[in-house]
Amino acid sequence: MIIAIDGPAASGKGTLGKRLAHHYGYRHLDTGVIYRAVAKALLDRGFDLTDEARAVAIAMELDPENFGHPELKSQRIGDAASVVSAIPRVREALVNFQRQFAADPPGAVLDGRDIGTVICPNADVKIFVVADPQVRAHRRTLEALARGEAADEAMVLADILKRDERDKNRAAAPLKAAEDAHILDNSNLDVEASVSAAIAIVEAVRAAR
Ligand code: DC
Repeated sequence: MIIAIDGPAASGKGTLGKRLAHHYGYRHLDTGVIYRAVAKALLDRGFDLTDEARAVAIAMELDPENFGHPELKSQRIGDAASVVSAIPRVREALVNFQRQFAADPPGAVLDGRDIGTVICPNADVKIFVVADPQVRAHRRTLEALARGEAADEAMVLADILKRDERDKNRAAAPLKAAEDAHILDNSNLDVEASVSAAIAIVEAVRAAR
């Protein structure tokens, strides 16, 4: 069983992915971390984010051991990842890793932007998570403050809107709901309610088989 979760920045898809994986005993991959790791490696080595050849080389030699680095969560790296992820050859270099992760037993939950459309078009369940930009900005601001980072909500909102635009309008695997995705709007749901709604979607799909 493969569960694909897509949605914009700070929609809560990561938390949802983690919780769903835990609920079903599946493995979980936050695919944003992969693009973040490529972006961080480029910046750490002093390369330009638009240096295609170097970005592709880094994507091809990426080590999942580095996916847990705390700095990957920062807004700076998130922005950089949004730029790097628009390079088609970088995306291509990362497809196999994601598909292999999805295919391994007993099942997997992957969250990102193009899981239901490009990486796992045959996923058993596809959920597209959305939330109002203001709600997402508020959540991101609280998360940043909790990590001890400075965060101004208006700036976080501006960043989220900019990132939405970039992720939606790029030519390669843009952020969009697959035709067979279930839309989950969690603007007015807390984490528990959002998890319950997602489980209800998975159960409805299973029951219909
Ligand atoms: O979900 P996130 O904020 O960690 O993602 C960071 C950036 O990585 C996001 O702005 C776009 C890119 N990304 C992508 O292009 N495809 C994915 N499957 C996941 C993330």
